[in-house]
Amino acid sequence: MPKIKEFDKKKHLLNYEKMDTLHLEFLDIYNSVNINSNESIKLKSTELFIHTKRHFLEEEKLMDRYNYPRSMEHKNEHNKVLAELQFFIDKSHSLFGMNILKSYYLEKLPYWFDYHLLSMDSDLSAYLKNISFKNEVNIMREVN
Ligand SMILES: [Fe+2]
Ligand SMILES: [Fe+2]
Repeated sequence: MPKIKEFDKKKHLLNYEKMDTLHLEFLDIYNSVNINSNESIKLKSTELFIHTKRHFLEEEKLMDRYNYPRSMEHKNEHNKVLAELQFFIDKSHSLFGMNILKSYYLEKLPYWFDYHLLSMDSDLSAYLKNISFKNEVNIMREVN
């Protein structure tokens, strides 16, 4: 099946393994849809919802563990997209609702993925990498 949305290493790779794995998983599920089948769009939306809940929880655990200062904005954005996805899945029992879910899936989600990854997730990963770098420097100092 052709990929709708490629994982672009230059653009999407954050070089923070845990987050990169989650983002690759997101696109794997996203791309496994058959866009000609409403059932498939509904199924993949639900799979993405389940994945995204775990994905966000993992990122939020990292924010809390390392006192990330912009966690409130980031968590709000996570909650917003989960609520949106849930809303469109719930409405998809009618043909009208199904068409809205389909356009949300094809037009909004890939745009959201790029926007969120390039802004909030990249900021979080830079913060986490900086902390682990500082920790390594401190360990080196203790050793020497
Ligand atoms: Fe993410
Ligand atoms: Fe995020």
